[in-house]
Amino acid sequence: AETATKFMPELVDLPALQKAAECCRACPLHQHATQTVFGEGPPNARVVFVGEQPGDREDREGHPFVGPAGQLLDESLQIAGVKRDEIYITNVVKHFKFTETDTPRGKRRLHQKPNSREVFACRPWLEAELVAIKPEFVICLGATAAQALFGRDFRITKDRGRRRQTEWCLNTLATWHPAAILRMPDHQRQLQMRQQLVSDLRQVSLSTD
Ligand code: URA
Ligand code: SF4
Repeated sequence: AETATKFMPELVDLPALQKAAECCRACPLHQHATQTVFGEGPPNARVVFVGEQPGDREDREGHPFVGPAGQLLDESLQIAGVKRDEIYITNVVKHFKFTETDTPRGKRRLHQKPNSREVFACRPWLEAELVAIKPEFVICLGATAAQALFGRDFRITKDRGRRRQTEWCLNTLATWHPAAILRMPDHQRQLQMRQQLVSDLRQVSLSTD
């Protein structure tokens, strides 16, 4: 199967990677999305956050985690004492996957989960970002990111918040995706998940102080 490797630049620093990813056609997702949303943050960041894929707002604006999930992430980072401008934030999949539906208020683009072929195709960009940054800590937000780095058997409900070593980073942990928290209908459960997200993020602030 085709992967993003075919579109890799010779020089693999972050600006070159970002530029090359703009032209990636390794899977069908580029066809309907507005633009590639690459990772952002300082090249010497000690912490990398990995989400699933850009959402509706991210697709329009071209930046990761700027919509509702990003807002909850920002709040949680602030409570945990982690500065967003010191971390690098990216996604496993760099193009927005969605279905369009008609609603009384017009067309809406509903997020769809990327499948394993799309994750496989796009993963070389994430690997290249991790190799370029060499972070001390990687935080996977949600199951898609966690399974991309830990393998398909990983279960967030079971192994949330536990640090492990991966090929790319000594300390890798997975926590709730902020969008999953926002979708949780049970209020008590949502509060608990918000607290767990913050306590997982504290592991970062404590270890990098
Ligand atoms: N959800 C993600 O996984 N990534 C984003 O960038 C925004 C929402
Ligand atoms: Fe390339 Fe990833 Fe976009 Fe697919 S989603 S076209 S692999 S950048």
